[in-house]
Amino acid sequence: MAVQKKVLVTGATGFTGSFVVRELCASGYDVFCFVRGCSDISVLNGYQVSYVNGDLDHPSTLFESLKKMDVLVNVASIGFGHGPSIVRVCEEAGVKRAIFFSTTAVFTTLEANSKIKRLEAEKAIKESGLDYTIFRPTMIYGTMRDRNMIKLIKFLDRFPVIPIFGPGEALQQPVYVKDLAKAVAKVVDVSRTYKKDYNLSGKEPLTYNEVVDTVANLLGKKVFKIHIPLRASLVLINSVKLIPGLPKFTPEQVLRLNENKTFSYQTAVEDFGYAPLSFYEGVTEEIREYQSYNVK
Ligand SMILES: NC(=O)c1ccc[n+]([C@@H]2O[C@H](COP(=O)([O-])OP(=O)(O)OC[C@H]3O[C@@H](n4cnc5c(N)ncnc54)[C@H](OP(=O)(O)O)[C@@H]3O)[C@@H](O)[C@H]2O)c1
Repeated sequence: MAVQKKVLVTGATGFTGSFVVRELCASGYDVFCFVRGCSDISVLNGYQVSYVNGDLDHPSTLFESLKKMDVLVNVASIGFGHGPSIVRVCEEAGVKRAIFFSTTAVFTTLEANSKIKRLEAEKAIKESGLDYTIFRPTMIYGTMRDRNMIKLIKFLDRFPVIPIFGPGEALQQPVYVKDLAKAVAKVVDVSRTYKKDYNLSGKEPLTYNEVVDTVANLLGKKVFKIHIPLRASLVLINSVKLIPGLPKFTPEQVLRLNENKTFSYQTAVEDFGYAPLSFYEGVTEEIREYQSYNVK
């Protein structure tokens, strides 16, 4: 029997990481989760995994864990400045194969805080001797643990009116979390994906208005959209930020909503058969989970 490859996963307890762990286990890898003392590992209950303790703030802990591994899957964000040290530690520990999560947000024209750190990390990865693959997902959604879509679902389930900052016609292409997890498991041993980066988006782009309509229809709700001109939106979010109970938005979030965010995934199709769900298909799953949770 072939020896199972040992794969260390950072960010394993996170929203995307837990699905990555599941897919890697299902694909027959020996999975080790790099977790902090404060990590809630109960999200990984039921998976056949081992745990190693460490913190990316302390690269020596990663070095100790990586020495015994064949592959690193770094799902934890590279937006906090850990990227270059993770690359260095991989090289020192002799782990050549590494998959990194970045984000399509590196292409924003806005001055986003984490953009510089992520670009520095991508540079360090590309200049390394590693057999790396970089994945750049668009906005990730798909379960109640996601950051954005669940907020919209809850809002539309509760209120019949939604304010939209700007015309809502900018395109976006959110990606279903399980499509990313499958992508990781598919590429681990595919040398065609070495030293390459891939933008990973959902099947087709859609406008924010279409996102709202799709979610509202699936919830069986009639929702009225009130469009607030962009400039007025920026004034508004500033004035309501101190009112308790109201959702908080940053100017960057409002401007980003009005930026086109479509990305081709064609090279991922060619190199490893990436076949993402449409937004309709993916969000149907998320709403099903949300509704079954609410019924309990
Ligand atoms: N969410 C999105 O829409 C989106 C879009 C594009 C790209 N991405 C990228 O995709 C990846 C996954 O995102 P996500 O939203 O699923 O992540 P997430 O839920 O925020 O999970 C973050 C994970 O990183 C771990 N972590 C944080 N700081 C750490 C440290 N110092 N040492 C060790 N582990 C640490 C967390 O561990 P604890 O459990 O201990 O906190 C957690 O497991 C990230 O690289 C993110 O930048 C996300």
